[in-house]
Amino acid sequence: MKDIVRLVASARSLWGMYGVIGCLTVIISVMGLLTPMFSGWAIDEIRKGTDARVSYMVWLAVGIFLLDIGANVLNNIVGYLGDQMSVRLNKILSMRYYEHLLSLPQRYFDRELSGKIIARLNRSIVQITNFMQMLSNNFLQFIFGTVLSLAVVAYYSWQVALMLLALYPIYIFLTFRSSGRWQRYQADKNKHTDIALGRFTESIGQIKVVKSFLQERRELRFYRRHADKVVAINQPQSQFWHVRDTQRRLILNVIFFGVYLYIFVQGAHGEFTPGQAVALILYAMQIRMPIFTISFLVENTQRAIADSKDYYEVMNVRPEIADRPDAKQLRVTDGAVSFDGVAFSYDRTQSVIRGVSLEVPAGGKVALVGESGEGKTTLTNLLLRYYEPEKGVISIDGQDIQSVTQASLRRAIAVVFQEPALFSGTIRENIAYANPTASQKQVESAARAANAHEFIRKLENGYDTEIGERGLRLSGGQKQRIAIARALLKDAPLLVLDEATSSLDSKSEHMVQEALKRLMKGRTTLIIAHRLSTIQSVDMVVTLRGGKVDEVGSPQELADSGGIYSQLLALQRGHTDADIKRLRKYDIAE
Ligand SMILES: Nc1ncnc2c1ncn2[C@@H]1O[C@H](COP(=O)(O)OP(=O)(O)OP(=O)(O)O)[C@@H](O)[C@H]1O
Ligand SMILES: [Mg+2]
Repeated sequence: MKDIVRLVASARSLWGMYGVIGCLTVIISVMGLLTPMFSGWAIDEIRKGTDARVSYMVWLAVGIFLLDIGANVLNNIVGYLGDQMSVRLNKILSMRYYEHLLSLPQRYFDRELSGKIIARLNRSIVQITNFMQMLSNNFLQFIFGTVLSLAVVAYYSWQVALMLLALYPIYIFLTFRSSGRWQRYQADKNKHTDIALGRFTESIGQIKVVKSFLQERRELRFYRRHADKVVAINQPQSQFWHVRDTQRRLILNVIFFGVYLYIFVQGAHGEFTPGQAVALILYAMQIRMPIFTISFLVENTQRAIADSKDYYEVMNVRPEIADRPDAKQLRVTDGAVSFDGVAFSYDRTQSVIRGVSLEVPAGGKVALVGESGEGKTTLTNLLLRYYEPEKGVISIDGQDIQSVTQASLRRAIAVVFQEPALFSGTIRENIAYANPTASQKQVESAARAANAHEFIRKLENGYDTEIGERGLRLSGGQKQRIAIARALLKDAPLLVLDEATSSLDSKSEHMVQEALKRLMKGRTTLIIAHRLSTIQSVDMVVTLRGGKVDEVGSPQELADSGGIYSQLLALQRGHTDADIKRLRKYDIAE
């Protein structure tokens, strides 16, 4: 019951229009009641033979004709309103879902496949919309239709009305009894659909990998396995439903047998006029409709409940990272960043960062060096508050980042991610992602500083070139430079540079390095360095080992300390196979 209330509440802003639809359908069903009555009168009049009044008959025929036209017009108005409603409801629900998803922290997306997220949305919206439409089109009509038909039948014969009345509780009871099992089947089906669609989306997104490893068939098999499960579960589910439905209708058949028997026998005893008997039979037939509607109502309701469960589950996920009620705007004055005793683990058991303290002085450039998987990117994730440290404090100009709004924090930091994540759309849109109203001059000057202007200029459509999903149509070095231009245009006082580990050829490498230098100018920068040349150019090097800071110092100081950095330098000079292997562990290129 709670689920149904929740479903109906989803469409609160549309209740008014649903009400209008409901009222119109009631009018339609009342009009439907008049036709059998007119028919009954006509038959009784016909029985008078030649005495029958022709004009009266004509009026009855005209009455039926007008009722038909009225029903025709009203039905189409209802259909039109229903269309408008369902599209609006669709918009409301999907916007809410999207907005909510965008507010969820990174941890949520680490767990979920994007294909699943979308599959859930589609399924839920279709079902909730169907449900609301059914409610407006059938529910009121069902209630009013039933009450009115029964009242009219009772007027002719209370015995028949009583027999018909007995049907409802039996029918509803039987239908609800089978609902739980049906829903369990449905949830199981949905689970497999989600798994299949999650993988589907993932493999299409990384189609190159699938093809290069020749795994198209395996991906298809994976999909088929889960699709087969859905087919397999559907069989007992559907069988279950239809067996139950046959039983339910059997009871209906028996009761109607009683009703007809009663009308026929009593009719033969002269209890009703032929016209009354016909009208009664027509009413009894009309009442079958709402009774069948019960199955339809219940089936739709349980489908809506089962299929929207995941939607509400997502909507109920509370963002674990939220602005405090008293959160202030971050005010960056000098741009000094400090990590103080920061500890963190992704899964709350295996710590990745075990107490890191480091100071990035205002305007300073600090390189983070450590083996792959040591937690360098993680530290920047914490700085951006994608995750929250379990211990310790991160602050910017003395303000704890947990005490300021996430928006103001992120506004103050430009990031160049390890993987240059671009969007489909034009180069201009990508560079101007931080500020879509940026002028051509601004976009161009960011591109120039990022060493990207030259290659963009040579493209057929220049800045208006479409770059494909995630920038698929650009080279690795081009993507990196667009990502740098994007960060430049954001023009934030702090900069996080997660150097790409993929090595570029020396020319584009040089261009990227140059671009980065311009980007760092005048900003406090935290660089996750994967190149010795980058490390050599910073003010301070921080090396990480075992989730802790190992050494801190200028590149000159650390060159001979015997620590990670000096080892790296020695390895670089060494060039034995073992040296190169060790260098690889750091993902360090020259
Ligand atoms: N979203 C995540 N969920 C769970 N574990 C994660 C997640 N991201 C990273 N890790 C784990 O945390 C550790 C640190 O990862 P991180 O990405 O910070 O390494 P890194 O130092 O940046 O490495 P690299 O130099 O290869 O980029 C790794 O062991 C990794 O397996
Ligand atoms: Mg990393």
